[in-house]
Amino acid sequence: MIKLRTKFKQILSKLVLDNTQIRYLIYLARFEKWRKSRTESFPLFDDRYKLYEYLNEKVIGHEPISYLEFGVSKGESLIYWTDINKNPQSKFWGFDSFMGLPEKWEVFTTTVNESSFTMNGKPPDIDDRRVAFVEGLFQETLPDFLKSFESSGRLVVHNDADLYSSTLFTLCQCNEILKPGTIVIFDEFTSVVHEFRAWEDYCTSFMRNYTVIGATKSPYSYFSQVAVEMK
Ligand SMILES: C[S@@+](CC[C@H](N)C(=O)[O-])C[C@H]1O[C@@H](n2cnc3c(N)ncnc32)[C@H](O)[C@@H]1O
Repeated sequence: MIKLRTKFKQILSKLVLDNTQIRYLIYLARFEKWRKSRTESFPLFDDRYKLYEYLNEKVIGHEPISYLEFGVSKGESLIYWTDINKNPQSKFWGFDSFMGLPEKWEVFTTTVNESSFTMNGKPPDIDDRRVAFVEGLFQETLPDFLKSFESSGRLVVHNDADLYSSTLFTLCQCNEILKPGTIVIFDEFTSVVHEFRAWEDYCTSFMRNYTVIGATKSPYSYFSQVAVEMK
């Protein structure tokens, strides 16, 4: 019987292709199931900037934050956060190698090449003393950073590294600091085999729960950005 099962598995493994599109479709169905299963009510916004403004005004109330952004590149989202949260006690850390994606990013019909979003190793010039960069691969910098990190004010963790590997790594590493009340934001949640999959895998492995507190919903950003509050 066991022999037969093994044989069957061997035959199947040769027939079924490890196909990105098939995997994407399976995860798209999982994402839709996730979306429909959410029972909490949360506001929907036309774009990510309106979502950030809502979070800063209504959830954070302009209070001091410790903001960790994974995936900075030119710094568009980081700069926006420093502009809307003017609290002098807030602190912003931008994590990036500034060498672009460490591996190719396969999305449904397109592939974004390795090294895309590169800044040739140079962080953006941000004239704000509250901002610090942690340069290098997350896998090389984050464990050391976390040894001495203590959040002051509410912690906001912004995931914009696009890739499953990078997002899963940072979430798992940050588990200890993702205390109840922490806000976690995703920038490419509907890149379902990447950020969404990483989030599902992290929450399952670490038995974590959360409430969705906001998302985007327009023809161009249907649940691309999702914000949750950790329980
Ligand atoms: C889409 S860009 C970030 C865009 C930015 N947040 C914005 O809104 O302008 C993704 C960034 O993630 C970085 N990245 C992805 N995986 C990484 C890793 N494992 N270590 C360091 N940086 C990484 C890339 O270098 C790239 O700059």
